[in-house]
Amino acid sequence: MTDPQFALTERVQQALAAAFGAEYSDADPLIRPSQFADYQANVAMSLSKRLRRAPREVAQEIAEHLTGRADDPFPGTVEVSGPGFLNLTLSDDWITAQVSEIHADPRAGVGVSASPQTIVIDYSAPNAAKEMHVGHLRTTIVGDALARVHEHLGHRVIRQNHLGDWGTPFGMLIEHLLDIGEEAAVAQLEAGEGNAYYQAARVKFDTDPEFNRRARARVVTLQAEEPETMRLWHIFMNATVRYFNKVYVQLGVTLTNEDIAGESMYNHVLAQVCDELQERGIAVLSDGALCVFPPGYTGREGQPLPLMIRKSDGGYGYGTTDMATIRYRVQDLKADRILYVIGVTQSLHMSMVFDSARLAGWLPEHVRAEHIQIGSVLGSDGKMFKTRSGKSVKLLELLDEAETRAAGVIQDREYDDAERERIAHAVGMGAVKYADLSVSHDSEYVFDFDRMLALTGNTGPYLQYAQARIRSIFRRGGVTPAETAGPIVLGHPAERALALQLLRFGSVVEEMAENSAPHKLASYLFDTASAFTTFFENCPVLKDDVEAATRASRLALCALTLKVMETGLGLLGVPVPERM
Ligand code: ARG
Repeated sequence: MTDPQFALTERVQQALAAAFGAEYSDADPLIRPSQFADYQANVAMSLSKRLRRAPREVAQEIAEHLTGRADDPFPGTVEVSGPGFLNLTLSDDWITAQVSEIHADPRAGVGVSASPQTIVIDYSAPNAAKEMHVGHLRTTIVGDALARVHEHLGHRVIRQNHLGDWGTPFGMLIEHLLDIGEEAAVAQLEAGEGNAYYQAARVKFDTDPEFNRRARARVVTLQAEEPETMRLWHIFMNATVRYFNKVYVQLGVTLTNEDIAGESMYNHVLAQVCDELQERGIAVLSDGALCVFPPGYTGREGQPLPLMIRKSDGGYGYGTTDMATIRYRVQDLKADRILYVIGVTQSLHMSMVFDSARLAGWLPEHVRAEHIQIGSVLGSDGKMFKTRSGKSVKLLELLDEAETRAAGVIQDREYDDAERERIAHAVGMGAVKYADLSVSHDSEYVFDFDRMLALTGNTGPYLQYAQARIRSIFRRGGVTPAETAGPIVLGHPAERALALQLLRFGSVVEEMAENSAPHKLASYLFDTASAFTTFFENCPVLKDDVEAATRASRLALCALTLKVMETGLGLLGVPVPERM
């Protein structure tokens, strides 16, 4: 691991063990970046209480052990300061050696997992016949970034798009399809008019007794998977999925038809799921409904809360499907880890599903199941994001608007129309996606085109521009990044600072994967772009009076920065335009 903070943590831990005994070998040395040195370790302060010794004395002893190893000298300097801080400064030689190593590494210092896992990621999951809304957009974007990062680290990722494609509303939706004709229905659904379609069916269901009767009868034949009903259901779903795919393609997310594993997929096992849970006493009848009561969930009056798995009328619900789903993911897909990228409002449901599945033995101890809670996307009024007319926003229109607006921020005016359109597409989608990814996934944020498309600050377009600018250095210099051989020499403090920043890439990517935190990678890339800007302002690369060796070193730093930016944005799913 080239991350200086990790390297120093390891060193200090070894010194702690040598000084105070093996039981201190995994104490956290509390290493933080510092103004006075590269890093500062604050462990002496906390250890002093445990050791009943003065913190400065403790710090002194750690310092002696850090620097006293003739066999393996400390790669820099250690200084005790103030009440007992350890100031740690890395030698230029160490930094140069590490940075040269990752410059030569096509993965720019990102490792490959030694113990690859099967990771199931449940994301996107829009509902048929309801408008796919910005909330789904966010789970799609966050889930896709997580899928990309785990794949990059060498894990086996199984994407599961848990579409809402089953249930009682499909009775009326299918009857409406018969009323308006297959062709008209398909056209409407493919165009993303699912809401209007649903509403038209709903009005008839509420006002027309004959339609109502037909819709109910259709639910029965649907549950029985009767062939003609299934044919109609497929027509409906295929058209709907074609619309979803338009959104996925425009966004550049990796979901395909192969990843569809909607609620309907579990229809034939729901009865069995209920029977098994009931026979084993994990689910019990309560007022005619079959329920699991996982311990620890109580309502306002202290009454135990149920996860309902069969309603008193015999119907199944969201809880039933999710119990079947988790069993499938563990037993059939052999998941080691399951990520549910779903709205924060469903946290009680998810937590009850996980606990019920643990009770049933369907989610063994060694399998991690996590709800990656997605915060709401708000409008400028602080309420759920809607259009001005108050209707929910049509996603494709929103994405188109992002691209139209993006065309306005493109710098160079010389592009032909095709090129301009390509860039506007990349910048528009980059802006929308980065806005979702740069804040922690569980926080709310305000959807604001002006802010997400700004060319300064922590935005997608700023980072896209930063990498495009590095590419233009190579174009002007007449070399390719792959041709840069260095050697890297760190003369200017800005070169040193940039190198230290680049060395952290591998550990930041791992942190994003471990904690499902794309925003950590986002802010790292933002800091990297800023470190590059400072470097570029202070360290000329292509000017005539730059010596050949300096130029070679700086070009190597440019190439490594570009590789880190490109790889990092790629892991977030943010496109990287050649020029902007
Ligand atoms: N279709 C659901 C919704 O739109 C999300 C499904 C999430 N996945 C799951 N296994 N429950 O709210």
